[in-house]
Parts: sequence; C-alpha cells; structure tokens
Amino acid sequence: MLHLTINGKPIEVPEGTTILEAARMNSIDIPSLCYLKDQNVIGSCRICVVEVKGAKTLQASCITQAAEGMEIYTNSRIVRESRKVLYELILSDHDKDCLFCKRNQHCELQKLGVQLGVERSRFEGERSTRRVDSSVSITRDLSKCILCRRCVSVCNNVQETGVLNMQNRGFKTEASPAMSLPLGAVNCTFCGQCTVVCPVGALRETSSTERVWGALNDPKKRTVVQIAPAVRVAIGEEFGLPAGTLCTGKLASALKELGFDDVFDTNWAADLTIMEEGTEFLGRVKDALTGGGATLPMITSCSPGWIKYIEHHYPEHLGHLSTCKSPHTMMGAIVKSYYAESQGFDPKDMFVVSVMPCTAKKFEIDRREMQNGGLKNVDAVLTTRELADMIHSAGIDFVSLKDSTFHNPLGFSTGAADIFGVTGGVMEAALRTVYELVTGRELPFDKLHVVPIVGLDQIKEATIRIEEPLPAYAFLKGVDVRVAVTSGFAGAKKLMEQINAGTSPYHFIEIMGCPGGCITGGGQPRSEDERIRVKRMAALYNEDESKLLRKSHENPLVIKIYQDYLDKPNGHRSHELLHTHYTARGMHNQLTDEVFVLDLQKPQPARTPLTPGVVLGMSRSRTDLQDNPRVMALEAENANLRAELAETQDTVTVFKRIIQERNAP
Ligand code: SF4
Ligand code: SF4
Ligand code: SF4
Ligand code: FES
Repeated sequence: MLHLTINGKPIEVPEGTTILEAARMNSIDIPSLCYLKDQNVIGSCRICVVEVKGAKTLQASCITQAAEGMEIYTNSRIVRESRKVLYELILSDHDKDCLFCKRNQHCELQKLGVQLGVERSRFEGERSTRRVDSSVSITRDLSKCILCRRCVSVCNNVQETGVLNMQNRGFKTEASPAMSLPLGAVNCTFCGQCTVVCPVGALRETSSTERVWGALNDPKKRTVVQIAPAVRVAIGEEFGLPAGTLCTGKLASALKELGFDDVFDTNWAADLTIMEEGTEFLGRVKDALTGGGATLPMITSCSPGWIKYIEHHYPEHLGHLSTCKSPHTMMGAIVKSYYAESQGFDPKDMFVVSVMPCTAKKFEIDRREMQNGGLKNVDAVLTTRELADMIHSAGIDFVSLKDSTFHNPLGFSTGAADIFGVTGGVMEAALRTVYELVTGRELPFDKLHVVPIVGLDQIKEATIRIEEPLPAYAFLKGVDVRVAVTSGFAGAKKLMEQINAGTSPYHFIEIMGCPGGCITGGGQPRSEDERIRVKRMAALYNEDESKLLRKSHENPLVIKIYQDYLDKPNGHRSHELLHTHYTARGMHNQLTDEVFVLDLQKPQPARTPLTPGVVLGMSRSRTDLQDNPRVMALEAENANLRAELAETQDTVTVFKRIIQERNAP
C-alpha cells in the first residue's frame, strides 16, 4: 500500500493507482473530461491537473501514478485557475451553440463549466473548419467536437473496428474515418458505442423523432409501436430512476399516452424468432450430420451491427448466418401482413415504429432486404434516448405513470424473450426450446439458466450432450452440441478467425455487436455508473424468472399465428416474411454500391449558419444518392489536398514577408 496526502488528508491506496483514482476512492472529486475509465486514459485535455509538491509542473491526475509520500493539492488557486484557462481554450474552438444542441443540459462540457465556475470565454478568434456528417444511424457534428478521443478509443480498443481515428493536424484535426469520409460510406458498423462515450453533442443517433411525431399527428396513419427487451430496464434512468429499474408497464402506458394506436412488444417476436431460428438450426445440424453438407456453425442474426461487421470483414462467410430477420423486423413484417389482413387495414397506411436500444437498427430498416411487397417492414427506429426525449417533450410524468399492458395479439411473451436483451440470452432461449423439442424434456439446468453462457465475459461456451432423443431426432443421439457466445466485435473477430482457419469447434454461435449485448447498446442512456451492465442484466433475468411461461414454444399467441397464418416454422410463408439474405460489402465497400449517407456536408467555414435542410434533418435519401464510395473518397481526398495546398501557400506568403522584412534596410 502507498501512503500519501490529498489536500492534507492522509490516505492509503494500492500500488498502481493513479492520482485521480486515489482521490475518487477517497470521495475527493477531481474534474475530468477526456478520461474514461479503462477505455480512454491518454491525458489529452489536462482538465484533471493537480499540484504535486516538488513537481515542476501541474500533473494530469488521470495518467500520473500515485507514489509513496506524495503531497497532492487538488483545489489550490493555481490548479483552479489553470483548469479555467484550459477550459476556456477548449471553448475557443467550440461553437457554444447550446440552445440548439441535442446535448443541452446533458453535456459534460456544460456541466464542467458550471463546476469550474467559468463565466466567460476570453479567447476568441479563428476557428476550425467544421462540418456535419449524417448517416442513416449516426450524425457527427464536428463543430461540437472537443477532440477528447474517447470515440477513437472505443472504436479501436473496445470494438477493434478501427473506423474512427484522428485525422489531419492543427486546426484541421478531427476524429473521423480515413480521408475524412462520411461514416455511412465506410465500414462503420453503426454500433453507436462512440455515441455513448462522446461527452458532448458531436456524436449522436440520427434523429427520427420528427418523423414519428408527423405520423402520430397524421389521422390517416395507423401508428404501431413495439419495444425491445433491453429498453424496459434502462429507460427509467432518463427519468431519474435507479439503473436496472424495470419499466415495462410504465412504457406501455407512456406509448399509449403518446398516441400510438397499437402498442406491441418486440418480445412476442423474440419468441417467434426462437421458433424460426431453432427450427433452422435443427435442420442444418441434421443436414450436416447426415452428410448433406450444411454450413456450421450457424451464427445468430438479430444484431444488425454484427451483421454489418461480418458483411464488411468476412463477406465470404455470410453462409454461416441464420437467415432469420431480427425480432423487430419480423414484427414489422407480421404487422403489415397478418395483423393488417385480420383488421382490414391497408399496410400502406400503417406506420411501424421500433423503440430499440440500438443505433444500428436505424440502418437495418433501411436495408434493401428488409421489405415485403415493396413496403419497409419498419418505418422508423427510435433509440431509448429518443423515446425518453419524446416522453419529456409531451409533458408525460413517466415516474408517476400507472402500469398497463401491451395490446394483443402481438403483445404477450415468455421469459425466454426477456433475456434476448443480454449477451447469452438468445442462445439460452434457443436451447430451452431446441433441447425440449429434441428430447421431450426440459433443459437440464437450474431455473433453466445455461450457467456457462450467463455473464459478461467476452467469450463464453457450453457443451450439451443429447442423451435419449425422441425418434425423429435419433441422428443427435450422443452428440455433444457445442455453443459459443460473444458480444462486441473484439470477441466476434476471435470466433470468426477460428472459422476462417477451419478450427471452429462449435455448432451454434451467438454474436451481438455491443459489449454485454443490447443492455449496453449504442442507443441506451449514457451513464457514469460503472455497474450499469450488471444492474440491467439482473433486471432482465428477474423479469424472465417472474414469468409463468419461460419457453418460446409455449407462447400461446405464437402457437396461434402458426395455426392461423404461418402454418409451420421455416414454412413457405415464414420464408417469405421472416427470413432474409445478406449483402457482401467488403472492407472498403468494394463489393456493393450501397452507402448509408444522408447529408454529405462539404467543409464549411466556422460560424457559417447551417442550411435549413441540415437543421430540419431533410436530406437526400440513399436511393437518390448518385455518389458511390469511390467517388466520395476521391472528392474528400481532393478537398483535403486543396486545403493543404492553401495552407502551404499561406505559409509561403508568411515566410516571404518575414524574409522581405529582414532584408529591408
Ligand atoms: S456540446 Fe455542450 S457545450 Fe457544446 S453546444 Fe452542445 S450543449 Fe453546448
Ligand atoms: S458506430 Fe461503432 S464502428 Fe462506427 S465509428 Fe462508432 S464505435 Fe466505430
Ligand atoms: S466526437 Fe466526441 S468523443 Fe469523439 S473526439 Fe469529439 S468530442 Fe470526443
Ligand atoms: S481527464 Fe485527465 S487529461 Fe483529460
């Protein structure tokens, strides 16, 4: 243990502790900005400076190790003044447009200004040339960026996708894809993890709220909404409730108060997914074990961020993916077919909204594959954060709302569906059904939880031996079914490399794009609570255990739709509505002409007002877009070269002037 003092108070901390951690362990707050525990520890903003007795300069506490006998001052005059100056320097290259900023009142930069007592910004002058880059999922407003590099760290070190990096130098420095290409034109997965860590309004989901308000106010539209499992254990945080508060009933009530005609539950479609995916898996295993040559391992397909990742990085392995659409697009397809037909609605007049923990779902509904009969399965995706904004904006007192239930026939679900929201949940739900179909007995685990695949480890695996199968599944007798589960692309890469090398030992793999699964999706509330994932996960497992029915094949309303409409899992109608195929994209989109750019903003001078089109979110749709990725790459490169040339010419002019002045008599 180390012994030191902070502000005269003696403390004891383990070796290897930074000054910032030492202070926080002892309830002494040091303000920070770029620092993100375990993710971004690079000491770039210097807001966390402290005075260390004997040191020549102030030290950035987030990267300085505590040492035996250190005397540290976190609140001296020089420390306070320095932090203010550093803060004002950050503001000097920031548009300070708070009233029109999505993060207003939820912004770490704003909060810091209040904490430091900054009342003015003394440094004004030239500002960086900045621009807005809007894709179908994520919008980057670089006039808000404070260059903290958190997004770069999460994209490179956590997700290992390497999409965002620091580009250019000086005033032109920005956190962007290579050659400052738009996110929608590169191999970004739209996982949205960068939007969760960005402390300011520079990175956020591309808003769909105005379109949803438009549909709600349109008397000709039948508005249908559904919510994903992970939303119900997180949205309460946006209203001051503790992390992991289960808000299913309040959510149903809030959606009804907002004016949706039908309030359905994506969980119903999660049960349907298990019927389709489980049947597909059994079909593939039978084929593979009886010499048919089906592709194994089969990999789950309900995470659109993961789907985009494999389409870019392993396009040659798309055959491993289940052909099942994700639960919310299955729900959309069913709403605009079965439900519309049974109620006599014209599907063209229906507007289906999905409330999701995910930014990639916004991209997913725009895929060419997610349509039936020329209509999109889902018309708009709201993230958990966006729905909370709408509830606030409608003046609904969420915390005081009474619980209500979802509408049927698409609102009832089993416990298996609840755990879709956490890593390992889809696999466990599938195993509960598949094992029982094959053996006629319940999955042999306490409370039905497949313990080895529960939890937040990066890669989890389990082996389940099939003893005494029913006669129809005799081909599985004595087979050890091997499954693996991962979340986040770092783990996905490891499992895919095994497949690449032909050494994967698994039959079935679950992959989710976000570390921890949907509970920590890119559209979930931002939080400083380090235990957030554990709390949200526990809430989902509690919800599962509280249900009377906990296996998807027991859902009476899923059984009914097969009797009334779909006939059987993986049948003809199911294939038409509930299954899909994928697009090989390649690392540089070289295998496709599809891009997902909304606004391609060319560099604008600082302080130039944005065009009304940008402010209102009006933009070219993907189908109008003539630019292909290669053309955009060349345009961006040209713009950069022109800017660099102009800079060089400026420098030459300055040097010429200095030389002339020196040579002057
Ligand atoms: S990012 Fe924060 S400080 Fe900057 S304009 Fe938005 S709310 Fe204001
Ligand atoms: S959305 Fe994901 S992949 Fe894309 S830039 Fe952000 S962190 Fe990287
Ligand atoms: S976009 Fe956000 S997270 Fe990324 S460097 Fe800028 S301020 Fe930091
Ligand atoms: S928080 Fe320590 S340098 Fe930014």
